[in-house]
This record gives sequence, C-alpha cells and structure tokens, in this order.
Amino acid sequence: MNIHRALVTGGAGFIGSHIAQQLLEEGISVTVVDNLSVGRREHVPAQARFVEGDVRDLALMKQLLQEADCVFHEAAHVSVRSSLEQYYQDADINLMGTLTLLRACAGSRVRKFIFASSMAVYADSPAPVPITEEYRTEPLAPYGIAKLASEKYCLLLCKQYGIECTVLRYFNTFGPRQTLTPYVGVITIFINQLLRGESPVIFGDGTQARDFVHVDDVARANILAMKARLTAEIINIGTGTPTTVAEIAELLRAKINPGIPSRYGAEQKGEIKISIADISRAREKIGYQPQWSLPDTIDEVIDYIKTQHHP
Ligand SMILES: NC(=O)c1ccc[n+]([C@@H]2O[C@H](COP(=O)([O-])OP(=O)(O)OC[C@H]3O[C@@H](n4cnc5c(N)ncnc54)[C@H](O)[C@@H]3O)[C@@H](O)[C@H]2O)c1
Repeated sequence: MNIHRALVTGGAGFIGSHIAQQLLEEGISVTVVDNLSVGRREHVPAQARFVEGDVRDLALMKQLLQEADCVFHEAAHVSVRSSLEQYYQDADINLMGTLTLLRACAGSRVRKFIFASSMAVYADSPAPVPITEEYRTEPLAPYGIAKLASEKYCLLLCKQYGIECTVLRYFNTFGPRQTLTPYVGVITIFINQLLRGESPVIFGDGTQARDFVHVDDVARANILAMKARLTAEIINIGTGTPTTVAEIAELLRAKINPGIPSRYGAEQKGEIKISIADISRAREKIGYQPQWSLPDTIDEVIDYIKTQHHP
C-alpha cells in the first residue's frame, strides 16, 4: 500500500512526535492534530503541519481525514491510575475520541488505521514471562477498559469501511520527550526525582516487572505496521525482557545520585504487577525487532531530561 499523507493524532505528545519524525524520514507528508493538553508544540517536527484541535471534534476530523491515507491514533488521556477516579474523562477522550475519529473515517480517503493500544488491556500475569496477544484481557482500570473497547470498535468499523486496521499494544515506553506527569513513565519520574535531589518513590515492594521499550522502537513498529499488508491485526510491541521497578530505581540511583536512598510508598490500585510482551507476532507479521535496550539507552534519556530540568 502506498501511503503519501499521514495524520498523527496526539502528535505533539511523546510517542506521536517520534512517529511523526519517522514518517517524515520516510518521505511521507505529516499532519499532527493535538489539543496540547499534555503535548508540546515544540515537539512537533518542523516539517509537519500542525493543527491545534481535539479528536472529539467531528467536523475537524472529517476535514483532516480528507487529506490523509493513513491515521496513527495516539491522542489519549494517558493515565491508568487516575482513570480509576476520572473514568468519565478517560472514556470521553479515549473511547469517544476514538469513535469520533472512526466516524470521520467513513467516506474518507483513509486506507489504513493504526491504533495505539496498551498492555493495560491484559489481566495481570502470575510470573514474569512474556504474554502473547491471546492472553486473557481483563483490564484492572478504566483506562484499559476504554483501550480494549476502542480496539474492538477500530477492528469492526475499519472492516466495515474497507480500511486496514492494526492495533499495536505498546508496553512501558520510555525515552526522550516523555511528558512528566505523576502517573506515566516510571523512568521519567525517577530521573526527575533524583535530579531534584529527592528519593525515587517505589510503590509497593518494587518487584513489579515491566517490559521497557524505547520510543524509537515503538515509533518504528508503527512505520512497519503501516508498510505491512495486514487486514486486521493485534500486535504486542515490547522487548520480551523483564525489569523490576526496584532494579530501575537502583540503576538510576547509581547513575544520578547514589547517596539518595529509594523510598517505598503504598501499592497503587489499578496497576498491573507483571507485564512482559511476547513479541513473536510482531516479528512474524511486521518484521519488528527492538533495536534499543534499557541499559544501552538510559544515559541518553538522563542527558535529555537534564537539558529539560529546571530545579
Ligand atoms: N507511554 C506509554 O508507556 C504507553 C503505553 C501504552 C500505550 N500508550 C498509548 O500511546 C499513545 C501515546 O501516549 P504517550 O505516552 O505519547 O502520551 P502523551 O500524553 O505524551 O501523548 C498523548 C497526546 O495526546 C494529546 N491529547 C490528549 N487528549 C486529546 C484530545 N482530546 N484531542 C487531541 N489531542 C489530545 C495530548 O496533548 C498529548 O500530546 C496513547 O494512546 C497511550 O494511551 C502509551
């Protein structure tokens, strides 16, 4: 499929801005739509067209989709934990935003829809072993419920409209340009805490095991999914390697501020304890292979955050 023009929703955010950059490097013209609720205008690559707007604005989405062959839907309210209380807002943006975009796809020129889903759709796993896409889906928080419902709408409605649909279930993504919020991105949160001279706060006992995948690999998976001929597919995007939250804290402490001990806080509701991706399907269907590991790239992330850091 020849893609010439792409729309990236949430493209002023962390992952979306990296996707926009890689699309431009592929020679594809890019429009970014973002309401800048979290994203930053300066994260949008200079060669991309930027439209400030909301994915729940049907007229705007219809207009933008007249000019796109492929959509990368990244815009979302990204917080597992806060979705337990703000479930209405979560569903309003994450589910209704997706449905608005899907409504706008009807009769548009879009041929491919790539949806940013999450490991939050899965049930907790009992051991730090990789889980396949067939693993039980039983979200622990409204964020995962909205993502799971959105996945199903995307697959069903795209089929109805004759649009190829790929759902990418990202695992814990890290890297430069991750927005600092209290909720997302334990690596970004710990680095900021340590740079401020504070202890990294580990929720629970720190044995939570996560699959940390570099944002460049996640963005590349999107490019590979765009190029692959896949009618309807759900694909995990991670590395397959477990790292515990305590290990992350130790690694970062050693690098940034070894004199500061970690602190432990109460276990957080709604969060998966163990979540590691089996990436066999990603390898097979789109030729994905992660190129970056956590130890190889953590210095670059620390250096980036230092440049952003204003104590
Ligand atoms: N970061 C992760 O580890 C991770 C893991 C799994 C899935 N995801 C998914 O990947 C996608 C991108 O996440 P991210 O980490 O880059 O988050 P992010 O918050 O940096 O990016 C999301 C962007 O969407 C924008 N946005 C929010 N609501 C909007 C609306 N109503 N209309 C238009 N724009 C809106 C925000 O301003 C922001 O720029 C999200 O769909 C998220 O659920 C992220």
